[in-house]
Amino acid sequence: MVKSLLIKNGTVVTASDKYIADVYIEDEKVHTIGKDLKLTADKTIDANGMYLFPGGIDPHTHMDLPFMGTYASDNFESGTLAGLHGGTTTIIDFAIQTQGKSLRDALDSWHKKADGNAVGDYAFHMGVTDFNKNTVSEIKDICEKDGISSFKVFMAYKGALMVDDRQIIGLMKEAGKYGAMVISHCENGDMIDELVTEAKANGNLSPRYHYLTRPEIAETEATGRIIDMAYQGGHPLYVVHMTCEGAVNRVREATKRNQKVNVETCIQYLLLDESLYETEGFEGSKWIMSPPLRKEKDRIALWNAINQGLLHTVATDHCPFCMEQKNMGINDFSKIPNGMPGVEHRMELLFSEGVLKNKISLNKFVELTSTNAAKIFGMFPKKGTISPGADADIVIFDPNVNHTISVKTHHQNCDYSAFEGWKVNGKCKTVILRGTVAIDNGQSLIGKGFGKYIKRSPHNKEYVCEKEFTKSAK
Ligand code: URP
Ligand code: ZN
Ligand code: ZN
Repeated sequence: MVKSLLIKNGTVVTASDKYIADVYIEDEKVHTIGKDLKLTADKTIDANGMYLFPGGIDPHTHMDLPFMGTYASDNFESGTLAGLHGGTTTIIDFAIQTQGKSLRDALDSWHKKADGNAVGDYAFHMGVTDFNKNTVSEIKDICEKDGISSFKVFMAYKGALMVDDRQIIGLMKEAGKYGAMVISHCENGDMIDELVTEAKANGNLSPRYHYLTRPEIAETEATGRIIDMAYQGGHPLYVVHMTCEGAVNRVREATKRNQKVNVETCIQYLLLDESLYETEGFEGSKWIMSPPLRKEKDRIALWNAINQGLLHTVATDHCPFCMEQKNMGINDFSKIPNGMPGVEHRMELLFSEGVLKNKISLNKFVELTSTNAAKIFGMFPKKGTISPGADADIVIFDPNVNHTISVKTHHQNCDYSAFEGWKVNGKCKTVILRGTVAIDNGQSLIGKGFGKYIKRSPHNKEYVCEKEFTKSAK
């Protein structure tokens, strides 16, 4: 393993800056940034004509998730490796409590899946599906000892994961004591349950009915409701996978009373729409996820929300199932496992469709793919930027290589690609994780177990620098 690495002449892009410089890395950290550095390193990479982006952070993945009678088909090894190929050096996955069991059980189980297996770095959100007296007593340690500062609730998936408002309010209060934040899947579970029951009673069982039974208003209502709960108690909030105009409008309304809501969308909601559910036969099952893909007007609302400062992260909700698994719902849409693959192509798609089509700036691209997730989830500036003292997680990105996304070439453990045939301009050429070249020209140079568990700080606490570092080159 090389101890030091020098990247020469790349264009460093952070959430705020863009400049040409050399980056010298030592002992896993960015050490020095400057012009024509005379430092010698174990390895030198010429990055002339390339962008240097902070390693991507995908704040929403589900590796190896037990869900709807099966398991997400990527585990921590295959899923984080696929992420690395696409420039994502850190994921935040969800350790989800089983109703009736403890949070600790879930955390132990997720560590067992990830520790010694993940190739890329990983952190956990804690999924709370059963907030009771016992759960309350676990929160302090999970925040302070396990370094988990975000607690997820599901307002949908009635009978499996859904919690009620009382539990959400209780969790906001308890997590708030330790500077932790509630994050939420916003859909009105009762409304959806009723619509699903009705559709099935009428013999409407094809994949399109997944979309028709999870209408925009179910998401808008739940989003507005949890925003109000957070406002009433003065708590921070992060809404995961926002998909629609109605929900964006609820966030915009909240800003009028000076409430800041942190909002995530996913790459599929920016690029795909509900017409995919009209495809012949069972094809639409590939995009069955919750919330579902929406209409063109919703995609426009999401893109606009980015530049209006209402939307802060672009994740994937990576939760792949192979077609054999999707077939569990061949005769009943409500049995199709919800989720799709995406962790590998989030950054290249957002660059190609967002930056190159002038929808977002390069700095905004970095904010959305890395910096904001690091800041919101207590990892900044260890992760999420390129600066002295930060983990040397760097994507050397070639804006001039074009390629086509396909199941034939992807690294995700899924037998289809949700973006099959999409032509993408720009490629993650070399991906560096904590100073080690992880991916080079499509070849992986690290393996199982290289990934580290990342403890996160509370929302309201200053980051403490980990070691001495050089501020700038002499
Ligand atoms: O359909 C989805 N999104 N599957 C994963 C679970 C979730 O709701 O995030
Ligand atoms: Zn969700
Ligand atoms: Zn999810």
